[in-house]
Amino acid sequence: METTEANERPKILGGCMKTRNVQALVADHNVSPADILERYIRPEMAVDDVLLENNSEEIPVIDMSRLMDEVSMDEEASKLKFACEDWGFFQLVNHGVPEKVIEELKEDLMRFYDLPLEKREEVAQLPGDLEGYGQAFIASEEQKLDWADMLYLFTQPPHFRNYKHWPSQPPSFRDSLENYSNATQEVAHCIMGFMATILGIKRETISEIHGSQTVRINYYPPCANGHDKMIGLSPHSDGCGLTLLLQVNPVPGLQIKRNGKWLPIVPLPGALIVNIGDALEILTNGRYKSIEHRAVINAKEERISIAAAHSPSFEKTVGPLADIVGKGTPLFKSVTMPEYVKLFVSQKKIYEKKMVQLLKLNP
Ligand code: OGA
Ligand code: NI
Repeated sequence: METTEANERPKILGGCMKTRNVQALVADHNVSPADILERYIRPEMAVDDVLLENNSEEIPVIDMSRLMDEVSMDEEASKLKFACEDWGFFQLVNHGVPEKVIEELKEDLMRFYDLPLEKREEVAQLPGDLEGYGQAFIASEEQKLDWADMLYLFTQPPHFRNYKHWPSQPPSFRDSLENYSNATQEVAHCIMGFMATILGIKRETISEIHGSQTVRINYYPPCANGHDKMIGLSPHSDGCGLTLLLQVNPVPGLQIKRNGKWLPIVPLPGALIVNIGDALEILTNGRYKSIEHRAVINAKEERISIAAAHSPSFEKTVGPLADIVGKGTPLFKSVTMPEYVKLFVSQKKIYEKKMVQLLKLNP
């Protein structure tokens, strides 16, 4: 990352090499299966352990309206505590993001993906940069690739937005994304407020740190022969503090690591999937855990998801919070946010618990 002034928009250098647009690859009937096999097939998929969807363990469901209601608040807060300490993932219902805001963004996204490739590529990533339409962390010609196209944008604070990468087609896209970004940031801060209360620290402590938001829009095309041998998004944990994920269409694909196995997650209608990222594991000195997850692809249908990631602002420090460590021992190093991002992208690959591992003291 490069910044010159505190207020200037940071440039996140993800070191991406340009790869083929996967949506266009699927549409191109001249592409031979061998081309696809070579770069996308993952031998490890064959031996992976996936739990069945009717597995008895159910991801926790948190009802935000019950958290806001004095009568049900305590009961719901203890469910939230369990969800954060034991799962690192939960479904959030009655979150308050207006249905209209969600529907407008969904519609605009579908219209964006209906545009011809040249139009979509008007917002393509520039060489070496992470922002824009493309793919993240591609460092070599040999590296196995994820079966997806990504649109990655800085959304908060507003002066960090780089509209060059925000689609101008359909014309309402920018307004729809801005409305969605504002609404999800509010929800994230509200959840962080409840988390702080549960942790026994001042309500604003965590949300005050998290002033930035990026949005990663994932498009996973279908693949009729080979969907079970490829991967849409490689196993990773999120580097941010808190992610809110919205599924644009009802095609499942998200799997989370639970007791050493992959557990498929089927979102409830209208729910947001919330998960803890590495930064929050570090800030809470390990009380909350970031969890490894991945996305698989479907044989017949495309899948689209929007991950809104809430991270510490660039003038903040990422490290165990003094109020949480108390008289205990900090388990992680503290670094400034620019150092944190630099470390994150310098690895040139995505993997599980990256930042937790890099900042762990006495490993
Ligand atoms: C992400 C992510 C999962 C999904 O974008 O970080 O984990 O289901 N996405 O698309
Ligand atoms: Ni993720």
